[in-house]
Amino acid sequence: MEPKQFKKVVILTGAGISAESGIPTFRDSGGLWENEPVEVVATPEGFVKHPERVIDFYNKRRQDALRCEPNAAHYALVKLEEKFGDNFLLITQNVDDLHQRAGSKRVLPMHGELLKVRCLGAAEHVIECKENQPEECPVCKAKMRPHIVWFGEIPFEMDRIYGELTSCDLFAYIGTSGAVYPAAGFRQVAKQAGAHVVCLNLEEISGGYTDEFIKGKAGEIVPKWVQTL
Ligand code: OAD
Repeated sequence: MEPKQFKKVVILTGAGISAESGIPTFRDSGGLWENEPVEVVATPEGFVKHPERVIDFYNKRRQDALRCEPNAAHYALVKLEEKFGDNFLLITQNVDDLHQRAGSKRVLPMHGELLKVRCLGAAEHVIECKENQPEECPVCKAKMRPHIVWFGEIPFEMDRIYGELTSCDLFAYIGTSGAVYPAAGFRQVAKQAGAHVVCLNLEEISGGYTDEFIKGKAGEIVPKWVQTL
C-alpha cells in the first residue's frame, strides 16, 4: 500500500516530549503535581491567597527550564515543519520554550509561556522574563503574574485551534496524558472532521478517536515517525 500523502498537519504536544530534556511531567511518578498542590500553584484563587509561594514556584520552574535543552523529538518536529510549511501547526500545552529553542516557528503555546509574565493592569502588558518575575510592570507599574493558563482559565487562541483541527488531515498528539480539557478533546474534533489521528506516547491513552498508537520515548519514536511522512 502506498503511504498516504498528507496535506495539512496539526501536532499537539504535552509534558512527555520534554521529559527526556529533564523537565518533569505533571502526572507521572515524581511529577510536578505530586509535589505541589495544584489548587495553590495553578489556580487564580491560589495566587490571590499565596502570591509569594506561586511566584517562587514559577521562578524555580523558569530556572530549571533554562538549564534544559531541546531533545531529538523537538528537533524532529522542526524538520516536519520545514516539510509542510504553512500547512503545519504545533500546538503545545508545554510552557517551556524548548520547541522554540529547537527552531519551531509555527508554535501555539495554548497554556501560556514560562518565560513571559503579564501585568494585572487593564492593559495586561505581556513582558519577557528570564529567571525571576519582576515586582511590577515596567510599563504601568501594576503587579505581575505568570503568563500561564491556570485551572478555570481559558487557554489561548481556541478559535484558531478549532479552525486548524477541523481543516487538517493528520493530527498527532505526543507525550500527553489526555487528562486535561480542552486539549484532551482535540483528537475527537480532528477525527470527526476526517483527519487521521496518531498517538505517540509511553502509554496508550484511553478514550478512542485514535487510528494509530506508537509506543515509546518521544526522543526515539518521533524522529522515526517523522521520517515516514
Ligand atoms: P501529563 O504529565 O499529564 O502527561 C504526560 C504524558 O507523557 C503521560 O502520558 C506519560 O506517559 C507521557 N510520557 C512521559 N515521558 C515520556 C517520554 N519520554 N516520551 C513520551 N511520552 C512520555 O502532562 P500533560 O498531558 O502535558 O496544564 O498535561 C496537560 C496539562 O496538565 C499541562 O499542560 C498542565 C497540566 O495541568 C496547565 O498547567 C494548564
